[in-house]
Amino acid sequence: RSPGPLLAIESSCDETAAAVIAADRSVLSSVVSSQAALHERFGGVVPEIASRAHVERILPVIREALAEANVTPTDLSAIAVVTHPGLVGSLLVGVTAAKTLAAVWDLPLIAVDHLRAHLYACRIAYGEEAFPACGLVVSGGHTNWYDCPDAVRATLIGSTIDDAAGEAFDKVARLLGLPYPGGPSVQQAAEHGDPTAVPLPRPMMNRPELAVSFSGLKTAVRYAALGNPNSPEVPAPPLGERRIADLAASFQAAAVDVLVGKCDLALKQTGRPTLLVGGGVAANRALRVGLTDLCERRGVRLCIAPMELCVDNAAMAGLAWESFERGEFAPLDCDVTPGLVR
Ligand code: KG4
Ligand code: ZN
Repeated sequence: RSPGPLLAIESSCDETAAAVIAADRSVLSSVVSSQAALHERFGGVVPEIASRAHVERILPVIREALAEANVTPTDLSAIAVVTHPGLVGSLLVGVTAAKTLAAVWDLPLIAVDHLRAHLYACRIAYGEEAFPACGLVVSGGHTNWYDCPDAVRATLIGSTIDDAAGEAFDKVARLLGLPYPGGPSVQQAAEHGDPTAVPLPRPMMNRPELAVSFSGLKTAVRYAALGNPNSPEVPAPPLGERRIADLAASFQAAAVDVLVGKCDLALKQTGRPTLLVGGGVAANRALRVGLTDLCERRGVRLCIAPMELCVDNAAMAGLAWESFERGEFAPLDCDVTPGLVR
């Protein structure tokens, strides 16, 4: 008889999430309460507001996840929680809730890495055959490539040297006056624009190393949108709706070119038959098209996280089953780690 499902909790940034995942990795429920509306007027996540909102929402979200899955605490096998990386105050809310429930319900606790969980979203969606693979986590905080021999091991083989891809989308949205969160609004604006209208750099794209840089691209968009302070005699065209759409489309095309180009390199370097892609930016339509083309060209299988598993959610923390099966549990006094754990 297989063990009962586990309850997973995720609160690393500005999404309060809980999910119930069965031992066969099927998602019995996945509840995500987005705080986007709270942070919108600040144009980015305000950590203190995020922590407070998590405190208010965490128990209702957990209750809803259990009710939707039609399970009671006595049915559960374990409590899983994302402990790193993320905003420390945000992480603490989920981790404190998880520890408390584990103690009260007498269940083992499992610590989950947020980035590995983003990759595991592909395992949830595509099954065990998703491995071995080459993986990309492309989110608001990270742009990392991994070599994944199996569902548990992931060796970091490349990353951004400055901004994460999602961060670049968010910053470009802000300078174009588009609403938060930036990724979806840049994508939406880009639909009405010409991706070839504004010539933009593809930093590091033709260099042989597995690294990307988005800060130069973001600056190029800033200069094209608002004028280059180094050549004030050349004024930027007025920033009307048409121009904003062209800038959004041109930026998106440059970012996608760079990401797709480096996925090509990562596939070559690892020789893996599958490309896994997870994280918030994996929801981007242009990126999904670019990666689909790349994988068709290379004869590689593309396992990109389905939309609902791209942006932060707790179903991806079903990764905890891998720990459960190995008997790897976390002590009740385990800590959160805001930084990246390799
Ligand atoms: O994985 P995620 O929810 O949180 C982190 O772990 O960072 O990713 C959030 C990031 C944000 O930067 C957001 O702007 C970006 O993902 N994003 C997108 C899209 N949807 C979300 N970027 C581009 N296009 C999208 N459709
Ligand atoms: Zn994330």
